Amino acid sequence: MKYQQVLDSLNENPKKWLVTGVAGFIGSNLLETLLKNNQHVVGLDNFSTGHQYNLDQVKELVDPEQWKNFVFIKGDMRDLGTCNQACESVDYVLHQAALGSVPRSIEDPITTNENNISGYLNMLVAARDAGVKRFVYAASSSTYGDHPDLPKVEDKIGNPLSPYAVTKVVNELYAQVFARTYDFKTIGLRYFNIFGQRQDPNGAYAAVIPKWVAGMIADEPVYINGDGETSRDFCYIDNAVQANILAATTTNPEAVDQVYNVAVGDRTTLNELLEAIRSGLAKQFSHLNNFQATYRDFRAGDVRHSLADISKAEKLLGYSPTHRIGEGIEVALDWYINDITGQD
Ligand SMILES: NC(=O)c1ccc[n+]([C@@H]2O[C@H](COP(=O)([O-])OP(=O)(O)OC[C@H]3O[C@@H](n4cnc5c(N)ncnc54)[C@H](O)[C@@H]3O)[C@@H](O)[C@H]2O)c1
Repeated sequence: MKYQQVLDSLNENPKKWLVTGVAGFIGSNLLETLLKNNQHVVGLDNFSTGHQYNLDQVKELVDPEQWKNFVFIKGDMRDLGTCNQACESVDYVLHQAALGSVPRSIEDPITTNENNISGYLNMLVAARDAGVKRFVYAASSSTYGDHPDLPKVEDKIGNPLSPYAVTKVVNELYAQVFARTYDFKTIGLRYFNIFGQRQDPNGAYAAVIPKWVAGMIADEPVYINGDGETSRDFCYIDNAVQANILAATTTNPEAVDQVYNVAVGDRTTLNELLEAIRSGLAKQFSHLNNFQATYRDFRAGDVRHSLADISKAEKLLGYSPTHRIGEGIEVALDWYINDITGQD
């Protein structure tokens, strides 16, 4: 079924969803789309990297009646009782909560492991015991590790290059084992550099796009790790939201107990990305007409190139990205300009 048809049918027959990590970047965007489509949503977050202001912003963007369909649990998924409470009478789980960032995991592998593996296992057990219809979880392109092939296809993975990547591989292994041993239905979404509104520009572990946008607007130095020819398949947030909703609701029996690349299928180098952001912002910020990035060493744990083959998600889920990188950057820049400078 096409995405719009899925949304129409959800509007006619609302479901109850649990979004973990709801105060974070991807979670808050899932919340916004679900509420705008009249779904009932339970959200779980401990605010470790997420923020109350993301929830406040979603509240502003939906009707007051739709906001009443949201129940927030401030809690930690490392506590099984909290996960059990969150899963009560839920139809679909969209599990986003985790500690992101490769460098964070290199500095503190134990905390990343506790959140991303023990917390994830709690959520799987709680969702299984609550009898949820589908458990969709945030996997990662980092699972491809050192596998040299491009584009990345789901069944060819290499060795993980960071503790973070290990946690995402283990998530997939647990999902497979839960399918085999408990007949529990899951779908993993291997996100490739998702970006867009509400992605946090602050902190040592911020993702590249919001970090660069904030740095350029503030006229602060912007760093490129390596020679700038490192490449990624940058994917606008609306595409990731679409993949989650399609994965949760698919009725195709072949589509479950699988993992999918969630990306666009376009490769962009960091140098190209920097220029797209600089030229987009220079229309409003004249100091960026002569802006130069500062190059520094490659970062440990980073893969050199990343590009997804998205044909599996297209074929089995009916996934069809609505935004390529240029379109996504345009919308995201408008949002950041407004958010960072308060301009409309
Ligand atoms: N953004 C990307 O490009 C990307 C790429 C690959 C995978 N992912 C995965 O997607 C998911 C969402 O990422 P994001 O970019 O929205 O990150 P984010 O940091 O904005 O959101 C994660 C949310 O999870 C919450 N959280 C963390 N640990 C928790 C715990 N123990 N209990 C309850 N809540 C907890 C945080 O407070 C935060 O709100 C993560 O699993 C991440 O690993 C993201």
